[in-house]
Amino acid sequence: MNILGIETSCDETSGAVLCGGRVCSNIVSSQRCHEIFGGVVPELASREHERLIVSIVDTALAESNITKNELDVIAATAGPGLIGAVMVGLCFAQGMAYALQIPFVPVNHIEAHIFSPFINEGAGNSVPEGAYVSLTVSGGHTLLAVVAPDLSYNVIGRTLDDAAGEAFDKTGKMLGLPYPAGPVIDKLSEKGNPAFHLFPRALTSRSQSSKSWQGNLDFSFSGLKTSVLTWLQQHSPEFIEYHKADIAASIQDAIVSVLVEKTIEAANSRNIMAVSIAGGVSANSALRKTMKEACDKEGIALYLPDAIYSTDNAAMIATLAELKLSRGMNAEHRYNVAPYASFAAGAKKG
Ligand code: KG4
Ligand code: ZN
Repeated sequence: MNILGIETSCDETSGAVLCGGRVCSNIVSSQRCHEIFGGVVPELASREHERLIVSIVDTALAESNITKNELDVIAATAGPGLIGAVMVGLCFAQGMAYALQIPFVPVNHIEAHIFSPFINEGAGNSVPEGAYVSLTVSGGHTLLAVVAPDLSYNVIGRTLDDAAGEAFDKTGKMLGLPYPAGPVIDKLSEKGNPAFHLFPRALTSRSQSSKSWQGNLDFSFSGLKTSVLTWLQQHSPEFIEYHKADIAASIQDAIVSVLVEKTIEAANSRNIMAVSIAGGVSANSALRKTMKEACDKEGIALYLPDAIYSTDNAAMIATLAELKLSRGMNAEHRYNVAPYASFAAGAKKG
């Protein structure tokens, strides 16, 4: 089966072709026009997707050596995301599927992240046979779920306020770092001391109200943001500049330690022996390293997407469509944009 995937939910325009479960091309264009604003400007994102979508899809097809007439299915992100941005990819994909008279599969962006460790399933990268705990951490979501082998899942924890990626981006902005600050903090932290300052770890064994954390798999990062702001206001610009890498490493440590502690707690409390991490923040080197060490200690298997599939990409959209179709779920011909799509959304059972 040849599947074209399209992703335009935020500030990446991406097209990918999956042939027999393997990625034959995955073209991602990250919009630079938002940098001067320190965050994504929705209207600019839509216009940029509109400008690029045809050439991205053409390039994805050319690189895969598949012509559009050889496509069997087209899949696109239907939400959650910025409504105008999602609409560009979704309408383009539905129009193209209609013109080619082939099925269209709407894909939930967060579900696609959840299954991104299993991109290239056709090359033997299989979904585990038993249940596993999935941590999905992106710019807009922080989610813990137990995933069953039939691809159904239960959400067992989520952020009560900011997402983990948002915590990286906003504290990084306070430090004067460019958007998105997550990868910059990651790089800067390599030279910093994570124990330089202990920023708060809300709802964990190290939070002040430690009794209330036990068994609580929800996250909260807004207190970290306030704490970083207050701490920065109490120190001189020269001191901050001198210790930039130490501060970055301390912020990163606060975020990563919470993510790892709760993921391991979720697996241990349910006797689950496999864990996966996905979403933009799963590219973080400290998160990958700390989670691997924690999983090894507990004898838990860890599944990670390749770094190129951590952040937004169309290969994960095509992959989820393929996984669902291969398990007998139906394609649909028309679908409306769902900016706040629920986590239970997706193709129906056939
Ligand atoms: O999944 P994604 O590409 O887009 C959304 O669906 O949100 O995630 C983007 C987020 C941003 O907040 C970005 O700062 C963060 O992922 N991110 C990272 C790293 N790479 C991307 N955060 C920490 N370390 C990284 N290496
Ligand atoms: Zn994403």
